[in-house]
Amino acid sequence: MSMVSPIHLKVNGQPRSDEVEPRLLLVYYLREVLNLTGTHVGCDTSSCGACVVLVDGKAVKSCTMLAVQADGSEITTIEGLANGSELHPIQEGFKEQHGLQCGFCTPGMIMTALQLLERNPDPNEAEIREALDGNYCRCTGYHNVVKAIQYAAKKMKKEVFHD
Ligand code: FES
Ligand code: FES
Repeated sequence: MSMVSPIHLKVNGQPRSDEVEPRLLLVYYLREVLNLTGTHVGCDTSSCGACVVLVDGKAVKSCTMLAVQADGSEITTIEGLANGSELHPIQEGFKEQHGLQCGFCTPGMIMTALQLLERNPDPNEAEIREALDGNYCRCTGYHNVVKAIQYAAKKMKKEVFHD
């Protein structure tokens, strides 16, 4: 009989209580227990960044954390960003600036960008590229990803100042 542990957390604002095996990685909890499959698994070895989510506001590779370690925290996944049918400015930026091709890396890129823009609302290109250091993309060459984040930074600033 396998041992399970209770966990209580909030995911995209919704309280969740589940019983999970202590060895279950957070990424598999999100994908397989909660069916939030926007968080991708690219490598399973903490290299690619496809699995990035926010844990208490901090960007974390969810393949590096056990679900039981997330007990008591607030998790935000890519599914938590849009406001109904209205895309989050970072999602809009990726769409408008063609910041994706196959889209596999995109959820992780967007969650990493969200942490960056929350900490630094006006990053320069070098700062954006540095923030994306742990997120691999096999398709875009990163150029349009940078443009997408610059687009989002501008839009988010406008929203703050309402102009
Ligand atoms: S799947 Fe987590 S870093 Fe690649
Ligand atoms: S868009 Fe294909 S891996 Fe980034």
